[in-house]
Amino acid sequence: MSSYSIKELLQKQPIGENVVVNGWVKTFRSNRFIALNDGSTIHNLQCVVDFENFDEDLLKQVSTGAALKVSGTLVESQGRGQSVEIQATDVFVHGTADPETYPIQPKKHSLEFLREKAHLRVRTNTFSAVMRVRSKLAFAIHDYFQKTGFYYMHAPIITGSDAEGAGEMFRVSTLDLKNPTMDDNGEVDYSEDFFGKETNLTVSGQLEAETYAMGLGKVYTFGPTFRAENSNTSRHLAEFWMIEPEVAFYDLDANMDLAEDFIKSIIGYVLENCQDDLEFLEKRLLDEEKSKPQNERSEMALIEKLKFIVDNNFKRVTYTEAIDILRNSKPNKKKKFQFPIDEWGADLQSEHERYLVEKHFKCPVILFDYPANIKAFYMRLNEDGKTVRAMDVLFPGIGEIVGGSQREERLEVLQQKIKELDIDEKELWWYLDLRRFGTAVHSGFGLGFERMVQFATGMGNIRDVIPYPRTPQNAEF
Ligand code: 4AD
Ligand code: MG
Repeated sequence: MSSYSIKELLQKQPIGENVVVNGWVKTFRSNRFIALNDGSTIHNLQCVVDFENFDEDLLKQVSTGAALKVSGTLVESQGRGQSVEIQATDVFVHGTADPETYPIQPKKHSLEFLREKAHLRVRTNTFSAVMRVRSKLAFAIHDYFQKTGFYYMHAPIITGSDAEGAGEMFRVSTLDLKNPTMDDNGEVDYSEDFFGKETNLTVSGQLEAETYAMGLGKVYTFGPTFRAENSNTSRHLAEFWMIEPEVAFYDLDANMDLAEDFIKSIIGYVLENCQDDLEFLEKRLLDEEKSKPQNERSEMALIEKLKFIVDNNFKRVTYTEAIDILRNSKPNKKKKFQFPIDEWGADLQSEHERYLVEKHFKCPVILFDYPANIKAFYMRLNEDGKTVRAMDVLFPGIGEIVGGSQREERLEVLQQKIKELDIDEKELWWYLDLRRFGTAVHSGFGLGFERMVQFATGMGNIRDVIPYPRTPQNAEF
């Protein structure tokens, strides 16, 4: 007897063969038909069990969620809905799942309910599909970079630097919170701490990636990233995964080309390799959207939307052009934006990004050349002295999915900026060394992995595309 995953079995269809499968009961009907799923695919395998031929205890043990091993002959299915099924000759119960207490029943559960049961939600169709797509996307990302000459670099997770300068860091410390050592000024004395200095979980691997790009040429990081921002939105996590390519000798144009090619490539990979899951997720989304007012429904179905990204050029627009468009837009004039756009220099909120992408251009947009004072210290200053070589990729339904820039490679300009922002130059001595020794034009960007998974799966809330979301007031599991 051969043991198969359900995915293999449904692909090979070895009719007449005696086979063994393991899985969890999805549904059990008419005291005869078990739909079994083992996570290998969105599709279930129908197992037909003539319970009168088995120990009478068996029937009582089979219910949704129970783990079974089923042996039997694979036959063409008599019923509709599946091509093959197993005529069971043996059923072994690995473990039962009491229907009185097992929370995942064969009915529609809300996503909110399932967040409370995050340890079990991967057994639902929606979450298993999302997590398979997530896994494939991660592979596609490595595949893309490995095939295009990049080296994978592991940036440290514990660091002393605040790469983004936004101060949204989780402290890493072994000091006694109740009784920390104090210095003469009455401040906590971090020289007594584990690392002998203040440290935090990384908000970005970029600064370290830059050091490696200036030796290996083309590198990328792909790791967990932590931000202690108190944002309770459908697009923010306190712990998320970020992909940060960094390339020596690339200017902003080359950086934008890379971002666009990279994004198209990984979405193309998912279209090719996750068809069954995408079809399921597309139907799920259509169902979900039925309950929304017409004007809030997306114009394209999921797969069409993904193909649209692969087949169309992203629109490249300067921040200054975008501000003009926004200032003259209907929602701005009718005071429909929560943050009205009056002046050049305003930071763009998600509502503005989405207006540009969804209403104005109706395609992904790359905004570039932002005002220096709304962007991070490391971005290269333009000749105008007021904008920097920054770029954000904006996506429909998501807003900002990528943030990146050409880096300031001129030592004095960077030092000047650091001074203006009151950053301690001593902390960045190694970063400044890059500008002292063999400096060169270089660029990179960060892709928020979960935002990409959201886009690829059509899930509206970022909490539903990572196994265990960490958000303010929430670190269960
Ligand atoms: O725009 P951000 O802050 O850029 C950086 O961190 C740069 N160091 C990247 C670089 O140039 N190497 O973040 C990059 C992306 C955002 O566009 C967004 O997709 C995602 O990371 N992101 C988040 N995703 C989930 N939750 C959060 N709290 C996020 N903050 C940023
Ligand atoms: Mg950003």
